[in-house]
Amino acid sequence: MSENLTYGTISSREAMELEEKYGAHNYHPLPVVLAKGEGVFVWDPEGNRYYDFLSAYSAVNQGHCHPHIIKALCDQAQELTLTSRAFYNNKLGEFEKFVTEFFGYDMVLPMNSGAEGVETAMKLARKWAYNTKGVEDGNAIIVFAENNFHGRTLAIVSASSDPDCYEGFGPFLPGIVKVPYNDPQALKEYLEENGKNVAAFIVEPIQGEAGVFVPDDGYLKACYDICKQHNVLLIADEVQTGIARTGKLLASDYDNVRPDILILGKAISGGVIPVSAVLADKDIMLLFKPGQHGSTFGGFPLACAVAKAALEVVRDENLAERAYELGEYFRAELSALKHPMIKQVRGRGLLNAIVVEPKDGVEAWDICLMLKEKGLLCKPTHRHIIRLAPPLVITKEQLAECVQIIKDVFSTL
Ligand SMILES: Cc1ncc(COP(=O)(O)O)c(C=O)c1O
Repeated sequence: MSENLTYGTISSREAMELEEKYGAHNYHPLPVVLAKGEGVFVWDPEGNRYYDFLSAYSAVNQGHCHPHIIKALCDQAQELTLTSRAFYNNKLGEFEKFVTEFFGYDMVLPMNSGAEGVETAMKLARKWAYNTKGVEDGNAIIVFAENNFHGRTLAIVSASSDPDCYEGFGPFLPGIVKVPYNDPQALKEYLEENGKNVAAFIVEPIQGEAGVFVPDDGYLKACYDICKQHNVLLIADEVQTGIARTGKLLASDYDNVRPDILILGKAISGGVIPVSAVLADKDIMLLFKPGQHGSTFGGFPLACAVAKAALEVVRDENLAERAYELGEYFRAELSALKHPMIKQVRGRGLLNAIVVEPKDGVEAWDICLMLKEKGLLCKPTHRHIIRLAPPLVITKEQLAECVQIIKDVFSTL
């Protein structure tokens, strides 16, 4: 047993050694071990406190271990956790009514991970192409944007432009095409040539993993209009941008676009258990017949109770408005920070990034290590982008303290 521990029974060093020895090496974590979380803070086993500026890739928008969500989890865990969909349960319908009213769709199909949500939407779009649009069997195409990130399954990596995601995993899924992001003209030209076989265009309203790449104003609306002209579904992957992260309930709201199919994940459960959801109207959703899609855990009672509570927090604590206002403040402060290594500050709401110019061997990763030493945790995406996405419950005072930490670190570079 290690000494000097505040949380748990093993030290940071022991925890890292165990992961290294017994776990697959499919991640490259920052060297910090987390043992406790509350609100915007996380602690390592030795009791050091950090601001969490990753929020589990925007899954913990409501803050760590939010009491309302944890109460729903504990209450439901003592009643019933899993039934499978072989039977009805008394939580699913209640959640389905709540979530469809919350986002303004007729119907929902609950799954678990974000990637499963994307797979679900892809299958639904293909069904729609064959049954409704009249595409000849086997010919349906789904158009993706370049530099997308939609998850890690084989179907999804078939659409990736990042060699780390797809190399060594072929053969890939046919019926996938990519067009440049933030380029409605490219989509238009592709659909003018091939639109009759296209089921859907799937797009992130802001590309998160690509480095918080914010498209031009009106991009999503332009894509939506082009899709409508060619009878193509617009699918918004809001797994990362949804649930108030960008300062609106959905990032699509910035363009007043109501996607034909909406994919949510991550913060829909406040980072408590894996929950994803695909929303659409009846004419699309009812194309799935019994036995054609599902998951043992999809829509399980525990998930339903937790996700409903997590959305109640978003509503009751006005998290979208908070994210909007705090995001304006945060970007203004960071933009005022003139430093030769800072090329750009960008983002919406509390999904932000600093694009750095690596210098003298110092890259985004090194800056994240320096921020960690000063009590702020974030993770680079690519070699030159630092993503900054705290829980949306952060206060202005806390955010000001974090701005100071970031300023202090850059002043030493
Ligand atoms: C936009 C987007 N879609 C899908 C996913 C995949 O979600 P999950 O990791 O839960 O499968 C992610 C994960 O980062 C994402 O950012």
